[in-house]
Amino acid sequence: MFSSSKQVLGLDIGSSSIKAFQVTETRKGFELLKFTIKDVLPDSIVDGAIMDSASVVQVINEILKELKVKKLNACTSISGHSVIVKKISVTKMAETELRDAISLEAEQYIPFDIDDVNIDFQIIGDSKATEGQMEIILVAAKKEQINDYSNLIRETGLLPVIVDLDAFALQNCYEVNYEEEPEKTIALVNIGASSININILKNRISAFVRDIPLGGKQYTEAIQKEMQLSFAEAEKLKKFIAPQRQVPSEVECILNGVSDEICQEIKRSFDFFRTQTQEVGVDKIYLSGGSSKIPGFDKLLAERTGMEVKPLDPFRRIKINEKKFDLKLLKEITHMSCVGMGLAIRKFEGK
Ligand SMILES: Nc1ncnc2c1ncn2[C@@H]1O[C@H](COP(=O)(O)OP(=O)(O)OP(=O)(O)O)[C@@H](O)[C@H]1O
Ligand SMILES: [Mg+2]
Repeated sequence: MFSSSKQVLGLDIGSSSIKAFQVTETRKGFELLKFTIKDVLPDSIVDGAIMDSASVVQVINEILKELKVKKLNACTSISGHSVIVKKISVTKMAETELRDAISLEAEQYIPFDIDDVNIDFQIIGDSKATEGQMEIILVAAKKEQINDYSNLIRETGLLPVIVDLDAFALQNCYEVNYEEEPEKTIALVNIGASSININILKNRISAFVRDIPLGGKQYTEAIQKEMQLSFAEAEKLKKFIAPQRQVPSEVECILNGVSDEICQEIKRSFDFFRTQTQEVGVDKIYLSGGSSKIPGFDKLLAERTGMEVKPLDPFRRIKINEKKFDLKLLKEITHMSCVGMGLAIRKFEGK
C-alpha cells in the first residue's frame, strides 16, 4: 500500500467535518505545512458509512482547492461497527508464517464473513498465561467500507495510500507528541460527533480498541428535543456555549445528562479492559475530539473514572510557522485535529 513519495495529505473524514493536514519532516522534527477544516452536510456520513458521496467529494474538492493541492497521496481512516480490533492468543510462529495463517486463526473471532474483511495484526509478545502461545492484536475491517472510502478519495484526484483506523491515527498523534510515559497505561479518548474512539496503550502498544456509537450528536439531539429547536439551532447553541463558559441552567442540565451517559460508557470500556487483561487499569486519559469541549466534561470524566484527564495536544511537538497560519482557527480546532494529524504523519512512521 505504500508509494515512494513522502508527500501525503492526512484526511480525517468525520461525520460533522473533514479535517486535512500536511506536514513535512525536517531534521528538527515535524513541521505543519497546510491545514484546513470544512463542514460536511448533516447525514452525509452515518455510522461511518458514506450516504451521500457526491456531497463529501465536493467538500474534499473545496479543501484541495483551498490548500492548492492536486494528485497527492492521501491517508484516511475509518471507525465504527465495520471495524473489529481484538487481542487474541495464537500459537507462536514467525510473522511471515502468521501472515499466511491469519485468516484461519481469525475466523472464529470475527462476526463477519472472512472473505468480506481485510485482516491485519500486530504481534504483542509471548503469552503469559499459556506457554507456546503469543498475543496479537487482530484488526479486521470490512472491505466494503475501505473500498467506499478509497473510491471516494480517488474521485477527488487524490491517491488513497492508507486507510487506517481512527483509533490508530490517534495513537500516531500521541506517539509523535508525547514520549515520556512508557511505563504508564494511557487511554486515548476521542469524542467526535457520532463516535467515541478509545485506544488503550500499554507499554506504548495498543492493548484495547473500541469505538462507541455516541458523541456530539447526542448533545445536539437532546437540546433539540428538550428546547424544541431545529438540529442546526441546537448545534449552534451548543457550540456557542463552550467558549462563553456561561451555560444557561436549562442547557447545563441537558448537557450534564448526556455527559453522564458518555462517561459511563467510557468507564464501562475501561472496566472491560481491566477484566479482559487482568492487569492494572488505566493511569491517565488523553482527551480529544470536538465534543471534549463540552463544558465540564473533562472534570466529570476525571471524577467518574478517578483518573487524571489531560487534553491531547496534536501540535505539542510540531513546528508551526506563526506567520503562515491563521492561529486563531488552529487553536479553535486543536482538539479536533488529533486523528487528522496522526494521519498526516502516518507516512513518516515507516509502519
Ligand atoms: N466548542 C464546542 N463545544 C461543544 N461541542 C463542540 C464544540 N466544537 C465542536 N463540537 C462538537 O464536536 C463534534 C465534532 O467533533 P469532531 O470534529 O471531532 O467530530 P467528527 O470527526 O466530525 O465526527 P465523527 O468522527 O464522530 O464522525 C460535533 O458534534 C460538534 O458539535
Ligand atoms: Mg472524528
